[in-house]
Amino acid sequence: MGAFPPPPVNTIDWSNVGFRVREVNGHIESTYSVHTGKWTPIKYVADPYMRIHGMAPALNYGQQAYEGLKAFRLPGDNDIAIFRPDRNAVRLQHSAEVACMPPVPVELFLEAVKAAVALNAGYVPPHETGAAMYIRPQIYGSSAQLGLSAPEEYTFCVFVIPTGVYHGVHPVKALILDEFDRAAPNGTGHAKVGGNYAPVLRWSDKARTEGYGITLHLDSARHEDIDEFSTSGFIGVKTGSGGSGGSDDITLVVPDSKCVIDSVTSSSVLTLAQSYGWKVEKRVIKYAELPSFSEVFAAGTAAALVPIRSITRRGTSGFAAGANVTKTAEAETVTYIPEGQEDAGPVCLKVLTDLKGIQLGKKEDKFGWRFAV
Ligand code: COI
Repeated sequence: MGAFPPPPVNTIDWSNVGFRVREVNGHIESTYSVHTGKWTPIKYVADPYMRIHGMAPALNYGQQAYEGLKAFRLPGDNDIAIFRPDRNAVRLQHSAEVACMPPVPVELFLEAVKAAVALNAGYVPPHETGAAMYIRPQIYGSSAQLGLSAPEEYTFCVFVIPTGVYHGVHPVKALILDEFDRAAPNGTGHAKVGGNYAPVLRWSDKARTEGYGITLHLDSARHEDIDEFSTSGFIGVKTGSGGSGGSDDITLVVPDSKCVIDSVTSSSVLTLAQSYGWKVEKRVIKYAELPSFSEVFAAGTAAALVPIRSITRRGTSGFAAGANVTKTAEAETVTYIPEGQEDAGPVCLKVLTDLKGIQLGKKEDKFGWRFAV
């Protein structure tokens, strides 16, 4: 056995990693039985396929939850670190509880995630690409169960895939989805369960054909407040109320809604912002407030930070006229980054540079966010 970590494999064009499934060595599994009340020791499975009964509630009743986190090669390619897996461990426990499943202990989660990365370490992209290994832990009801009641067995597994960022690095146009609600007012919007994602596919695919790279959801009860993007969290930037242009003039605003997922990336951005002396607010964000932001960006593990070029909503009732607002007979749009400009705004650029710097080991890890593999 050679030194750890092995160098990046030479079967992948690392200059074009993209965001798609690629085969790696294998994944990690553990199962929980209601009879023992315990999770089995983790095992390595050299296969991307899972053996699951066709009557498992995961397949029939959507009893599952998942996570997304990333591992990075540090400078020199000699070390690998996982970004804030402790946060994802706790979030998976929350999602599991929402979907009526037993929690995966934090220690087991960390052990499984580290093992999945270590056993596939050759697939962690080279440091200088800035790309990452995307880690996808899952939990689901896996034994046969016909009635709508708890099954006897659950499976926890961890898959990994080398990836670039989901939406690319250029500004994207966002479309508000009024035809479809992602999550019911007292539903599962705060849990990372598949049921919050699959029904959006039709709408996000259609939006993409119309030129919108990302879709945004409003609160489902009244369609008045901002919830989150279909793939990631929402961050709005307010700049310059005092006109000094100094750091005390920047405020990052994130939605306070019981229908959004507690984004690890978003919360890391807010911690960075506070360390610069910027203000942060977690509060209800009204749709009509969108034109008052100087920048908007989406924040998520897969997405990293995505600068939003504009936000469009069909209909013309919500925005007052303004320099950054255009209205047609069918829709109204607020623009943050004009067509032709490919750079993110200065606030997004600064936090993204620092976030990536910490993730990739180019900046000091002041907050203890890097976990060694
Ligand atoms: C992530 O960002 O990790 C997610 O799970 C979002 C998914 C749509 C790719």
